[in-house]
Amino acid sequence: MLQIDGVIKYRDGRQTVTNVSLTVEAGERVALLGHNGAGKTTLLRLILGLTKIDGGQISIFGHPPGSIEARRLTAYLPENVDFHQSLSGKEVLRHLARLKGDRATRADDLLERVGLAADAERRISTYSKGMRQRLGLAQALLGDPRLSLLDEPTSGLDPIARWEFYELVGELAAGGGAVLLSSHALTEMEARTDRIAILRAGKLVANDTLESLRRSAGLPVRLRVAARPDRAEDLMANLGGCRINGRSVELACQADEKMALLSSINALPHLVEDIDIVPPGLDDLYRYFSAPEETRS
Ligand SMILES: Nc1ncnc2c1ncn2[C@@H]1O[C@H](COP(=O)(O)OP(=O)(O)O)[C@@H](O)[C@H]1O
Ligand SMILES: [Mg+2]
Repeated sequence: MLQIDGVIKYRDGRQTVTNVSLTVEAGERVALLGHNGAGKTTLLRLILGLTKIDGGQISIFGHPPGSIEARRLTAYLPENVDFHQSLSGKEVLRHLARLKGDRATRADDLLERVGLAADAERRISTYSKGMRQRLGLAQALLGDPRLSLLDEPTSGLDPIARWEFYELVGELAAGGGAVLLSSHALTEMEARTDRIAILRAGKLVANDTLESLRRSAGLPVRLRVAARPDRAEDLMANLGGCRINGRSVELACQADEKMALLSSINALPHLVEDIDIVPPGLDDLYRYFSAPEETRS
């Protein structure tokens, strides 16, 4: 388990990580979200012991960052993972396995696990970005870590490669691993993580399940109502809202007003063709929690 208590980091006389406390339990996937420069990479590097802590404490299964025990238990996939282009995936992974004291066959198992077995003999220069990220994950998993720190692992991946990557992350957690992964992409986290921590300018501004964050933000639900042909004006006259893409009208309401609004829409079958309900997405939450508190609406 990872425990971070009131951690502070100064850079150039400025706090880039301010009093951050966060835990990640075994089997848990926690998303660390934040804009570029929010402090995600810095926090991960503090956990790894690659950057010195200026205040507070971090413990990795009871061990301090950078200790041999902590390093043995921790996997790290850096933001810009890079490999020797002229070597094959298998050559690189076997080499790294030797450095970590793992068997060469373990490298082959991991290539299989991340779906690279068929391409293991190809040069890395011929790999797609998604394949390189999967090789990066295989590299991080050498030595059987219990905590995985993944820094923006899906940036630059296409939707299918992302989906596959999250499958692997899910397997890690299902096997009892603790996973902390950073991202500035938001929507993809929705069904993929157990808890969400949002960093803004070095401060942790939210740390909860998606459902609880939704509730505490109290953001509106949107209803998209498609009008029957040529009835969009009538529909707006009845319901208000604003016109989107020609025939549809969008209405916003609080979660507890939704049923009442749905009834009034239902009472207009001659005007209404279809309804979509759009709950607040992670993007909305992210905007809400990353805005300064006094400007939240
Ligand atoms: N090596 C460094 N020296 C000085 N400042 C740094 C260094 N690395 C990062 N920073 C600063 O720390 C802040 C957080 O950066 P970073 O952790 O990389 O953010 P993120 O990963 O969320 O994009 C930024 O303001 C960045 O400019
Ligand atoms: Mg970063």
